[in-house]
Amino acid sequence: MEHMDLDLDVDFEAQVISGRASLRLDNRTGTDTLMLDTRGLEIEMVTLDEGEETTFDLGAEEEGLGQPLSIHVRPGTEMVHVDYSTTAGADAVQWLAPEQTAGGEHPFLFTQSQAILARTWVPLQDTPSVRFTYNATVRVPPELLALMSAENPTEKNDTGTYRFSMPQAIPSYLMALAVGDLEFRSLGEQSGVYAEPSVVAAAADEFAETPEMIDAAEELYGPYRWGQYDILVLPPAFPFGGMENPRLTFATPTILAGDRSLVALIAHELGHSWSGNLVTNADWDDFWLNEGFTVYVERRLMEELRGREYTEMLASLGAQDLRATVEDKGADDPDTALHLDLADRDPDDGMTDIAYEKGYFFLRMLEEAAGRERWDPFLRSWFDEHAFESVTSEQFIDYLNANLLEPAGIEADSLRVSEWIYEPGLPANMPQVETERFATVEEQAAAFVDGSTAAGQLATGDWTTHEWMHFIRRLPEDLSTERMAALDAAFGLTDSGNSEIQAAWYGLAIDTGYEAAYPALEEFLKGMGRRKFLAPLYTAMAETPEGKERALAIYRQARPGYHSVSTGTIDEILGYEPDAS
Ligand code: BES
Ligand code: ZN
Repeated sequence: MEHMDLDLDVDFEAQVISGRASLRLDNRTGTDTLMLDTRGLEIEMVTLDEGEETTFDLGAEEEGLGQPLSIHVRPGTEMVHVDYSTTAGADAVQWLAPEQTAGGEHPFLFTQSQAILARTWVPLQDTPSVRFTYNATVRVPPELLALMSAENPTEKNDTGTYRFSMPQAIPSYLMALAVGDLEFRSLGEQSGVYAEPSVVAAAADEFAETPEMIDAAEELYGPYRWGQYDILVLPPAFPFGGMENPRLTFATPTILAGDRSLVALIAHELGHSWSGNLVTNADWDDFWLNEGFTVYVERRLMEELRGREYTEMLASLGAQDLRATVEDKGADDPDTALHLDLADRDPDDGMTDIAYEKGYFFLRMLEEAAGRERWDPFLRSWFDEHAFESVTSEQFIDYLNANLLEPAGIEADSLRVSEWIYEPGLPANMPQVETERFATVEEQAAAFVDGSTAAGQLATGDWTTHEWMHFIRRLPEDLSTERMAALDAAFGLTDSGNSEIQAAWYGLAIDTGYEAAYPALEEFLKGMGRRKFLAPLYTAMAETPEGKERALAIYRQARPGYHSVSTGTIDEILGYEPDAS
């Protein structure tokens, strides 16, 4: 497929998306069978070109993959029209009741297609190695605005019909739709935010640096190729921190900290406009080519915005996450290699800190070995020369050898390049992160833990969110309830309005049995659906029998408000069987 025309009705009452997907084909092999991915779609009719009906067959259901839709075509067929509707099993789609929104008056819908959920709301070739352009017409209730990963309207119209065009070719996992009571605020010439009316002012303030980020990224990696860059702030049920839907990053409201302290996430999603959306992993086995590169770009952008010292704190937290993941999985676990083997597995299994942080440190190691004067132009031309293509680890290695290492007279082996990519564990040349600010945090944490400094006496004056995260991570699991209470009294951690601090603190509260924080923890778990926060907290609770009971009681109430991405993970953590209850 090289292009798609979508014509869709969004029916909030029936919770169904239905209509027609017309795929334009380039039938390179002259085949008589087109195979599309579908999962839980009801296929009504398939027609070719000017409307001639053709036969089709839905194959056997395979877990996670869904059913292959094979369509009888001719070697000369140019257009295939699939009339279909979604079903309750459309795992990409989350339908939110008005109570789950900030405004409380209108329902909301959003999709999350990565990694292989696009097939639950559109029949298509659901692989990152096929790219296509698209146009769409979407009909929604007239009081709502529809947005896609495409050229977007900035205002509602009274017909409820919206037209979209996406002139740059994208892979299926970047197909996205959101519908809700939304308003637009411009942030600059080519960027803006969408959010519910009561959230849009806070969002515009939080993300005011977006134009600066775009400038910094263009300076390093060349022109932003997608026209507009907007951010959509979703209701709290959104299961990720951010999703790099082209032209329209989807973001969790949990990064609206009020002090711009969590905007590295925007730098990350914007970074995907080069790494991921422009140069795409051809296969989820090479997910690190999307995420590791993007964490690298994210930190370069944050270095421009906030400076090196600040960014080293982000890198240090990343290194901690990475070490913890390697320790947890075991340094000989094949899933700790950058290049994965996900055959017959859920691509979600590859979504670990390995892709993100081992990927980041690999690129940082290359940067340090070659020096920025060679490395920066190299990375820029990697993006330029592979723009709108899907790539593999092998292609990166070849390109690296030919364009960076050989010209610089560096042996790939001396940098352990293939060990980094194909072997498990952390290579000996893992870069070192040193941050003085964290060294100070460590001193304070140690002084508090050994009792030499009382909570109120700690020198925490100008600590940023990341210093607090580091501090909380340094506290031991057996800290007494009294000392937890002393910290709380001094710093109000239980009532922090910063989601990252809350998540870290509630995790420690569970480990230490600090019950005073439980009501706030419960509210946190019920109030948002971001998997990165939910999963560790439910996991920590599940470590004791009573904790697990409490977790299940909360989960039973909260689960209907979570996206399938989150319930999939948490069902497993808690051994929850949806049908059995
Ligand atoms: N593309 C990812 C989110 C994703 C990955 C969704 C795999 C589905 C499958 C996005 O760019 C991302 O990495 N989001 C992170 C935030 C980031 C700052 C590390 C997240 O949501 O936590
Ligand atoms: Zn990412």
